Amino acid sequence: MKFVVAICSLLVLVVAGFFVTLYSGLIGVAATTPDPPGMDWVLFTGSKYSIQRHSKTIRPPDLSSPDIASAGARLYQGLCVACHGAPGVPRSSVGVGLNPVPPLLAEGKPVWTAAQTFLFIKSGVKMTGMPAFGPSYPDSVLWKITALVKKMPSLSADQYRDLAQAAVAEVSMRDDKGVGPVMKVVLGPVNGGMASRGGVLFKSKCSVCHGLSQPLSGPAVGGILGQRTPEYVMNMMLNPGGMEEKDSFVKKMVADYGDLVMPQTGLDSTQARYILEYLRNAAKG
Ligand code: HEC
Ligand code: HEC
Repeated sequence: MKFVVAICSLLVLVVAGFFVTLYSGLIGVAATTPDPPGMDWVLFTGSKYSIQRHSKTIRPPDLSSPDIASAGARLYQGLCVACHGAPGVPRSSVGVGLNPVPPLLAEGKPVWTAAQTFLFIKSGVKMTGMPAFGPSYPDSVLWKITALVKKMPSLSADQYRDLAQAAVAEVSMRDDKGVGPVMKVVLGPVNGGMASRGGVLFKSKCSVCHGLSQPLSGPAVGGILGQRTPEYVMNMMLNPGGMEEKDSFVKKMVADYGDLVMPQTGLDSTQARYILEYLRNAAKG
């Protein structure tokens, strides 16, 4: 009986001690103070066995084609470099300041299989800065990024740069007007009033999928007018379905973005013109 009482009191003390410590604010949350001893090991071991277990049924597609790694390089450059760096590219201040510090994936250590790498990217890692990309991108896009991550340890800085740039070059300058109702746009000096109305529309109608400098589920569009005609951009807003069906370049882009298509925007041509003005203004910096 005495023994049971002793055990119970001990338990109560431990629980009370736990809450006192927690509420006292003594446990530091600063990312800059070292973790308690053993914490790294617990987290690493936990995530290692969890990933091994949950990736068992994942079957990777063929990841060997150069096209797939090149499309992956463009996505990686937009979404991952800040935290993980790349051959010849250091982590940004965001990556350097995280605890745990994101591994330099180009070093390829520890060695994860393609299925495990894919699962990391799709599901993220709890209690670290590693986001889950599954909610934002279809599997086909995540496999492209996986292909690049697996290839990265064998790439020199020059090869990585060429690959990322080849992906950019492939989507660079087009001088056609696209397919749709807009045949000719006459541009004067940027009109601030139109641009600010366009900005409001852009936020509500476009910014879920397009950043100015960051690719989201659609490409970044901040510099779009350096690469596309204003007619093409207007037609993309007014007739995305027609562009996806008839414009050979947009068709290819749809495949790149994992068959994710740009929906009808419901804009009229005046509103589309405002957004065009907003994009012209954004490009001025
Ligand atoms: C905001 C920072 C951040 C971003 C953005 C980010 N990651 Fe991570 N990533 C992390 C952190 C932190 C870890 C370490 C997690 C851990 O300790 O288990 C990690 C772990 C990983 C791992 C497991 C590697 C290992 O050896 O433990 C892979 C693979 C990975 N990230 C791929 C990616 C890819 C691909 C992208 C872009 C699509 C990306 N990450 C974007 C922070 C980030
Ligand atoms: C639900 C997501 C989504 C929304 C909302 C969306 N887009 Fe898109 N957009 C895409 C995707 C995905 C692509 C890639 C091509 C495709 O799949 O049609 C794209 C392509 C484009 C392109 C062509 C880019 C290039 O490199 O040629 C332009 C321009 C564009 N969008 C502008 C807009 C504007 C402006 C709006 C708001 C009026 C908008 N988009 C709303 C997803 C979206």
